[in-house]
Amino acid sequence: MAPTVLHLRAETKALEHRSALTPSTTKALVDAGYEVHVEKGCGKKSGTTRIFDDAEFEAAGATIVEEESWVDAPAEHIIVGLKELREESFPLKHTHVQFAHCYKGQESWDTVLARFPRGGGTLLDLEFLADPKTGRRVAAFGYHAGFAGAALALENWAWQLTHPASEPLASVTSYPNENELIADVKKSLADGEKKAGRLPRVIVIGALGRCGKGAVDMCLRAGVPEENILKWDMAETAKGGPFQEIVESDIFINCIYLASKIPHFVNVDALKAAGADRKLSVICDVSADTTNPFNPVPVYTVATTFDKPTVPVDGLEQGPALSVISIDHLPSLLPREASDAFSNDLLPHLLKLNDWRNDAVWAGAEKLFKEKVATLPSSALEK
Ligand SMILES: NC(=O)c1ccc[n+]([C@@H]2O[C@H](COP(=O)([O-])OP(=O)(O)OC[C@H]3O[C@@H](n4cnc5c(N)ncnc54)[C@H](O)[C@@H]3O)[C@@H](O)[C@H]2O)c1
Repeated sequence: MAPTVLHLRAETKALEHRSALTPSTTKALVDAGYEVHVEKGCGKKSGTTRIFDDAEFEAAGATIVEEESWVDAPAEHIIVGLKELREESFPLKHTHVQFAHCYKGQESWDTVLARFPRGGGTLLDLEFLADPKTGRRVAAFGYHAGFAGAALALENWAWQLTHPASEPLASVTSYPNENELIADVKKSLADGEKKAGRLPRVIVIGALGRCGKGAVDMCLRAGVPEENILKWDMAETAKGGPFQEIVESDIFINCIYLASKIPHFVNVDALKAAGADRKLSVICDVSADTTNPFNPVPVYTVATTFDKPTVPVDGLEQGPALSVISIDHLPSLLPREASDAFSNDLLPHLLKLNDWRNDAVWAGAEKLFKEKVATLPSSALEK
């Protein structure tokens, strides 16, 4: 039987350096009998650059192919990517494994989703790839989101101490590896410690989850003592907020998975009520439910970016300046480690793609796809 061909497409989203397949998962797939085609990652057309060199994929046994060659690949090749396809309208004939962001009524969801049934293709969306027994996602980027978010929060704490209030945290860019990020954070913390005479006190809420574990690990690896880190999850927030422990910490990192309406963790009234006693100067909202009406951190309204990582909380007359980091693409700060962790978690399922309809996880993704397609307005299918 001819081998199953997986075609890793080049990403087209600006500043995306992560990859759904890595050289090591590619090698595992090739060793298992798959043929892996990898589009050149230099991103001449898209302006993005994959964190892994083409040569690393070639050494792993992949065949390097031209950017956007997936479009004309035989219909039975499975197209693997991470983020959205470029906004185009031609029908899609392949099975695509990716995050498509079109199942929750997002803007243009119908146009994006309709391309699959219009071309006879299938979407196996990575966001909803879950173990049918536990309902838990099989692969997610949470750990590195928390890790990166905590890094920026610590950097911001130190920055505020060493720069005038008029100068917000400078722009950041992706790091080639986590050791360089940790070294930078340690250096900033040392500068901050010199000014403050102490290291920060940090509260992480959602500490038992993926993002929360990453946030706690970053704090520890940067040298924040264990006793300075308050690790909260469901049990600690059951009493209902707002929480005094947040305004008494220097840094609050929110890492919860918001599933329903809950009392605010902190709000502007609580910040004002703390007056000059407030220590809190940095919030990193890793959960980034910025526009969700149930956001338990309703002290800001915009998502921030690597270019402008912070947004100030205005209107506080007493206490230190307070700013919020609400970046929704935090794992991109560490594209190598984030891709490695994600692709490794996905590997047991990637290895089943040669017979994916008989695998419960992929079959579940196809079932969801069909359910979502059934909700498409007929006008979307006619385009
Ligand atoms: N900003 C980014 O770049 C980025 C990247 C990845 C994920 N996320 C988001 O981060 C959030 C968390 O993701 P995850 O993978 O860590 O989820 P997870 O399910 O692994 O962990 C969530 C944790 O939050 C806890 N929690 C839920 N409600 C709580 C409450 N009211 N009080 C205290 N703890 C509570 C849960 O018990 C769990 O331990 C999600 O909303 C996800 O979309 C953001």
